[in-house]
Amino acid sequence: MGRRIDIVEVGPRDGLQNDPANLSVDQKLEFIARLEAAGVRRMESGSFVSPKAVPKMADSPAVFAGLDRAKPTRHIALALNETGVRRAIEARADEINFVLVAGEGFGRRNQGMSPQESADMLARCAPLVLEEGIPLSATISVAFGDPYDGDVDIGVVGSLAAQAQRAGVAELALGDTIGAATPWDVRRRIDRVRMEAPDVFLRMHFHDTRGAGLANVFAAVEAGVDVIDASCGGIGGCPFAPAATGNVATEDVVWMLERAGFETGLDLGRLIDTAKWLETVLGHPVASSLSRAGAFPV
Ligand code: COA
Ligand code: ZN
Repeated sequence: MGRRIDIVEVGPRDGLQNDPANLSVDQKLEFIARLEAAGVRRMESGSFVSPKAVPKMADSPAVFAGLDRAKPTRHIALALNETGVRRAIEARADEINFVLVAGEGFGRRNQGMSPQESADMLARCAPLVLEEGIPLSATISVAFGDPYDGDVDIGVVGSLAAQAQRAGVAELALGDTIGAATPWDVRRRIDRVRMEAPDVFLRMHFHDTRGAGLANVFAAVEAGVDVIDASCGGIGGCPFAPAATGNVATEDVVWMLERAGFETGLDLGRLIDTAKWLETVLGHPVASSLSRAGAFPV
């Protein structure tokens, strides 16, 4: 048995939140069901943010209401404030992922918060989640660079991680919202977070905006990280990040890892079929390499 790497599928949330297409609730549920059929067991299925800020996620309560709860999938809801956390609990989210922000410029535009204000908001919201017995995770957005302010101080990332640990976060992702990370910086920031928040489990969240996405996944896996976010087709991006592009594509990450002997538990053929199906419902091509080239060996 190879080492196990768990993929968290973020297509239904990070992927669809910024796509020009407007999928119906039924189409979103079909996307989720296809991902489940491909073996996905943990997925960001929606976000509970202001519908004015992100109209494409306004139907997340309806999506959560339509989920097939008999399946073993853990459905994650994204939240950025107390209203969001309460709405996610109401929707019976299996896990809540809270968004911290490492840059002031992006933080103000994305969520109306400075980095410290996002940490204070988490400290306020965490007890609401924990007392319901719901697993709490967090993502530090723009952890490698802010589209408005430029470089992000590694000390800010470390401090947010320490505060997340104190708040009771079980798993923390470093989010490269705009594709600013390099493999060497990935290593440095992982080391720093491990020093400042030794008890949290690490996950990584990369966008392939500048071509370093898979190299960054490699660096994270080499550094011992066992959980990677990815979106089927490589769709998506953040509406508040200029020139945003999608996450590393699930099928590309799975192919690379499985070919190297890691186990993801995902069915590559079904992922590729789902990426191709996505092209038909989105009305445009998706970005992943495997959906074009297919797997190797054939
Ligand atoms: N869900 C639904 N509505 C919400 C909400 C939530 N989680 N949080 C706030 N609102 C509503 C308020 O009720 C208020 O509505 P009104 O104008 O009808 O009175 C309005 O949004 C503004 O509320 P306020 O608390 O002042 O928030 P804000 O304007 O400072 O915005 C956020 C803060 C977090 C709500 C907003 O920036 C946001 O939703 N950002 C999401 C960004 C995002 O999802 N990015 C991609 C993923 S990281
Ligand atoms: Zn993202």
